[in-house]
Amino acid sequence: MLTRRAFLSGVAVATFAEAGLSRVQAAGRRVQGQDAQSLAADEVYWREIQQAFTLDRTIINLNNGGCCPSPRVVHEALKRYLDISNQAPVYHMWQILEPNIESVRRRLAAAFGCDSEELAVTRNASEALQIAQLGIDLKRGDEVITTNQDYGRMLDTWDQRVRRDGIKLTKISFPVPPKSLDELGDRLIAAITPATRVLHFCHITNLTGQIFPVKRICDEARKRGIKTVVDGAHAFAHFPYKAADLGCDYYGTSLHKWLLAPIGTGFLYVRRDNIRDLWPLTPAAASKTDDIRKFEEIGTHPAANHNAIAEALNFHDGIGIERKAARLRYLRDRWAKRLSQNPKITLHTNLNPAHSCAIGTVQISGVPTPKVVARLWERWRIIATPIVHAEYEGARITPNVYTTVDEIDTFAAAMDEIAARGTG
Ligand SMILES: Cc1ncc(COP(=O)(O)O)c(C=O)c1O
Repeated sequence: MLTRRAFLSGVAVATFAEAGLSRVQAAGRRVQGQDAQSLAADEVYWREIQQAFTLDRTIINLNNGGCCPSPRVVHEALKRYLDISNQAPVYHMWQILEPNIESVRRRLAAAFGCDSEELAVTRNASEALQIAQLGIDLKRGDEVITTNQDYGRMLDTWDQRVRRDGIKLTKISFPVPPKSLDELGDRLIAAITPATRVLHFCHITNLTGQIFPVKRICDEARKRGIKTVVDGAHAFAHFPYKAADLGCDYYGTSLHKWLLAPIGTGFLYVRRDNIRDLWPLTPAAASKTDDIRKFEEIGTHPAANHNAIAEALNFHDGIGIERKAARLRYLRDRWAKRLSQNPKITLHTNLNPAHSCAIGTVQISGVPTPKVVARLWERWRIIATPIVHAEYEGARITPNVYTTVDEIDTFAAAMDEIAARGTG
């Protein structure tokens, strides 16, 4: 049972956090009807969003590609659910909180644009994608095609099937930035052979933020009876799209990235006619063969994390995906357009909105990227991510809705200074 004290402290916390949410909602009402492009530069509006987070503003966090801080209201929901769970977990967590995962499933499915019976809640994109990667029946000699810029853990997962099951893994390369979206699609489609059973590729890559022409590739694969696994770790709640715009068989995403949900949240979409034949990673009873919930049979786990996704969806809806994407592109363009004037600086990300959104990767010629990133931290307390790929390198920069223009300008000035003086 909830004690009176725990109940009251929960209420106090909720009220404080809800005050933050109502400020965001009030800011939203004030700008109702304003188009996403003009709102992207409305600092009065974005200040309200920035205030909804409890951050350490002595550092400039430009690595929102790893995992993100949640807004206060989401973090408070997580803590509240944890506190409730700890009263008597077998009752409060299993009987009160856990069944409400169904509300989360329903709301995520609505946001993604699929049926709720096609969506499993997972702990991250890795788990979601590995369910698909390890659960598809493949025999010796069957081929999987991916790219050499897909996520390391996902490539390692396929590689384990090469070692264990004798499948063939083909990794294609592509230029950064590519000349066109068609070029990306053409490369994957041209690599298909009679042995190909699966195409695995990113919706948007983590290395340079390149968006792929997912629908075209998936349609071509389906015509040939090939399954598509799309890595959407960075896509969901980052820019607008729906499942119907993708047409893939399996889709995995993290929710602790762009949705700003608690750490340890993600989902797996499995197209309805694929559910039966996809083996779960953690086995489930045969009676669940056709049930999307068979992918959630992971044993005891916290209910707080996945239930607080509902609050993250509220926060996300309070801004709106069009406005969020426009703001993210505005922040990215602010540093990228300035730095592309510098002859010593190369951008590996195409700024065309069809190609990219918040993520940008930038290289200073003559200075090794790990040194650039170390310098940004030591001198300016800026967090960036060093990307060192066999074919190129650069610092990956990922702002978020809480990033200020002053933080972006500090980063751009720091890069100009490193380009001019080096790191010595
Ligand atoms: C492209 C891509 N796929 C998959 C993942 C794995 O995500 P998670 O660590 O949330 O499982 C990441 C993480 O950064 C990623 O960037």
